[in-house]
Amino acid sequence: MRKFEHVDGQMLIGGARAVDIVKRFGSPIYVTDEDAVRENYRAVYGAFAKRMPTRINYACKANTNLAILRILEQEGSCIDAVSIGEVETCLRAGFSPDRILYTGVNVSNDELRAVSSKRVPINVDSLSELERLSKITTELPLSFRVNPEVGSGHSEKVITGAKSTKFGVPKHQIIDAYARALELGFRPKGLHAHIGSGGQAVEPFIRMTEVLVTIAQELESKLGIELEFIDIGGGIGIPYRPEESVMDLDLLAEEVTGRIKAGTTARTIVVEPGRYIIADSTVLLATVVDLKDTPDKKFAGTDAGFNNLVRPAFYGSYHRVAVANKFDRPAEAKYDIVGPICETGDHIAKDRELPKLDEGDIIVAYDAGAYGFTMSSNYNMRPLCREVLVHKGEMNLIREKQTLEDLLRQVKVPSRLLV
Ligand code: LLP
Repeated sequence: MRKFEHVDGQMLIGGARAVDIVKRFGSPIYVTDEDAVRENYRAVYGAFAKRMPTRINYACKANTNLAILRILEQEGSCIDAVSIGEVETCLRAGFSPDRILYTGVNVSNDELRAVSSKRVPINVDSLSELERLSKITTELPLSFRVNPEVGSGHSEKVITGAKSTKFGVPKHQIIDAYARALELGFRPKGLHAHIGSGGQAVEPFIRMTEVLVTIAQELESKLGIELEFIDIGGGIGIPYRPEESVMDLDLLAEEVTGRIKAGTTARTIVVEPGRYIIADSTVLLATVVDLKDTPDKKFAGTDAGFNNLVRPAFYGSYHRVAVANKFDRPAEAKYDIVGPICETGDHIAKDRELPKLDEGDIIVAYDAGAYGFTMSSNYNMRPLCREVLVHKGEMNLIREKQTLEDLLRQVKVPSRLLV
């Protein structure tokens, strides 16, 4: 859980005062501390790399801002991409095609053609996708995503490895899938699974690794395939709530790499963290615009709603909140932090003990870097907000706010409706 400094009761992010950021760029606004991104990357890479050759495929669905991608490119990261849009964004950010692995689900032929035309390796999710890809190319390195029948995650909605989900080649078909790939002329290089996102326990990673090791052994004994890499997916949880603890990265790396080294000839482990790298590097700042006392609750209405941060409304997720300009004041009252979206479910936080709030106060929602901006929407015709990068006190705008014109650009009205 990242600690933030404060001076004279004012919260600092990457050496800049939160209130100064809002003064200069407005709110709501996402603010990322560059050093925190680098630190997180190095922590996760280091834990695995000291045990075996490691490739980190940053799951860019968590945050695709080009500036963030540049930081991770400089750090030496590779990419997990799930769409042609993510692939092209990462190519523009300077990643070479061989540093990207495309793992789609329910992939169309158009997307298969587009991704393979960029020379980006494809991690195949189904037998149907394999057959369709073989008609486009068999030249690119190939791997399969298997459904390991082991799931984990902070919500039912993000558990991907369970048997009942739509993801991956079913476990009982996986050997046949590799056999078919050989028949079609592919050179399979890797095996991948992803149990889900935001789980806090190491144990499901161990069970998934055991499934992957067994499959790798069968591939070698039955088909003579020696895998180059085993990809354990992402899903390393972070502590969102004060009482939650940080996952022991060293233990995770030890348990997983130990089994891969002992049981397979795969030289490299691939890990695909999104949340771990970016979540706690970024906060969402919002201004209190309205205060309301009802018989049941005190509401603090802010200018950020679930159009900006949908996780609380969509998953019931918890984000810690604080008051950036009253950072050293004790809690005095309980508030629901709510937004301007016309739905009862629109909230950032519920029942939080905070200092007494006034209009104009700046609310900070923590751990907003992963699946924060990337899941924001234009609901209620609200433009997407700005993003700022802070580095040792220097603030850089890394995304301009959308305009109403941006929202209306693609809309067309038939001429008969214009008279
Ligand atoms: N690899 C694959 C194949 C994935 O599907 C995902 C996430 C990751 C890696 C990265 O998982 P992470 O390390 O970030 O947990 N919107 C949800 C999370 C959905 C994650 C989808 N897949 C949320 O806000 O919690």
